[in-house]
Amino acid sequence: MITTNYLIIGSGVAGLTFAIKIADRFPDKKVTIITKSAEDESNTKYAQGGIAIVLDEDEDSYQKHIQDTLICGDGLCDEAVVKMVVTEGPKRLKELIEWGAKFDKNTKGKYDLGKEGGHSQNRVVHHKDQTGFEIERAILLEVHKKKNITVLDHHFALDLITENNCCYGAYALNQKTNEILTFQSDFTLLATGGIGHLYGHTTNPIIATGDGIAMANRANAVTKDMEFIQFHPTALYETTSGSKFLISEAVRGFGAYLRTKEGIRFMLNYDERGELASRDIVSQSIDLELKKTGEECVFLDCTHLDLIEFKKHFPTIYERCRSIGIDIAKDWIPVIPAQHYLCGGIKVDQNGKTSVANLFACGECSQTGLHGANRLASNSLLEALVYSDKIYTYLANKTLESAKPKQPVTEYKEISKPVMKTAYISKMKEDLQHLMHKNVSIVRYETDLLEALEELKQWQYEIELINRNFQISTAICELNNMITIGTLIIQQSISQKENRGGFMKFNSFEIEEYAN
Ligand code: FAD
Ligand code: SIN
Repeated sequence: MITTNYLIIGSGVAGLTFAIKIADRFPDKKVTIITKSAEDESNTKYAQGGIAIVLDEDEDSYQKHIQDTLICGDGLCDEAVVKMVVTEGPKRLKELIEWGAKFDKNTKGKYDLGKEGGHSQNRVVHHKDQTGFEIERAILLEVHKKKNITVLDHHFALDLITENNCCYGAYALNQKTNEILTFQSDFTLLATGGIGHLYGHTTNPIIATGDGIAMANRANAVTKDMEFIQFHPTALYETTSGSKFLISEAVRGFGAYLRTKEGIRFMLNYDERGELASRDIVSQSIDLELKKTGEECVFLDCTHLDLIEFKKHFPTIYERCRSIGIDIAKDWIPVIPAQHYLCGGIKVDQNGKTSVANLFACGECSQTGLHGANRLASNSLLEALVYSDKIYTYLANKTLESAKPKQPVTEYKEISKPVMKTAYISKMKEDLQHLMHKNVSIVRYETDLLEALEELKQWQYEIELINRNFQISTAICELNNMITIGTLIIQQSISQKENRGGFMKFNSFEIEEYAN
């Protein structure tokens, strides 16, 4: 049994920034971070565009950012949360800078502010097209300066330990030794990120399997808005399977056009903001264009842009395209929408508290009310920074009695069991990804959702049998979690009766009408 005061599950921006602050505030308390892959592996590391923050007081204002967020969320944002998050942006950016993160400046020495879909102003602070990499680098360095923080990489959190709706820690699998460890903690933070690999067709790295949300669901925490899956309009189209490389929305903010194979700039037919309409609208428009034409992808045309400036702003994107034979000065980049972000998650209040006592959630795995039916570009890093600070402030300023369970926490007892063939689990995972892509995608049909729900019921039964009868492994647990997440997405999609933001559902008789 490992005892700790603060157990943090996940080492992206949400988990690490909370760890730094709480470790500083309580140097005598133990902070433990467990993370299932290398310590820097996370969605955070791949963030390209940047962080939306109001810095230009001449052209921009909090009110404009609030308004853009509300419009993007299509009436389902919590306005008080939006106001709180937007106005705290500059303070959170200052902290990142103090921890050593570097952001690009213009020739006047001011922060270079990029533009993305749904933003009425340039307000995206960035580090070239590697913003997440730079943030992760800086905060990990800061974490390693703290003597009271322990980072345990390659530790996969299996389940939360709860009694009477209160959380006392978690069980985790040491992936190197296969030992199952029991962590008893006063406070537990889920910062486990997104769900992308439920779709396969995603911009997310392989770690994004919704584990934290599934664990919270098993612990009876409330989840909300799971039907609002954000599809990014411009993932690089490649026929290979697995994560899709992102072509940042900032490239459209820089002036790139979306075209059909025939060269038609179709976005203006759908929205007067053209390529810079919000992400839900651009993805739905591309989806419809592809259905109409039967083509596999559309194209991003950068040929009219200043190449030298492009390379300066987007070195990673330029290089990736070049490596597969695309010369952006001459060739259009083939793109398709891919799963990118989960707007919903574990429901939390303004202090990041879940419905389970002593359990907090932050970042992409949480549902704060900021995003509503569709997240405004570059509001995610901002949300994670603001909420990790809220949780920190709540825990730092209150004298909180650390709750003690009535029954002593039981250590996980391992029994020797046979090892499951990985090929079987991989095949089930592929089938699940295929089902989600086919039945629970940008446009959904009630009949497809009902069919998928039936399928998932069978798989849930099967994976539970596997779980009981075979040795615990990361692959089995991730698949179990993904089936749980798929079920939540489908159930909440069925319950959602209104088409809002990134959610579009039809009855089968409406298909013709939609396509026309
Ligand atoms: P993550 O950064 O994903 O971290 C989750 C952590 O939890 C990881 O360390 C993971 O290994 C760990 N974990 C998960 N499950 C377990 C488990 N069972 N046990 C132990 N550890 C576990 N947002 C913006 O605002 N601006 C952008 O420009 C932007 N660009 C993006 C580009 C890409 C390609 C992607 C994929 C996302 C982008 N986003 C962007 C979204 C944003 O990056 C994420 O929403 C945000 O970084 C999430 O941070 P997080 O800390 O909540 O989760
Ligand atoms: C991008 O750079 O296009 C991603 C921005 C985001 O997800 O907020």
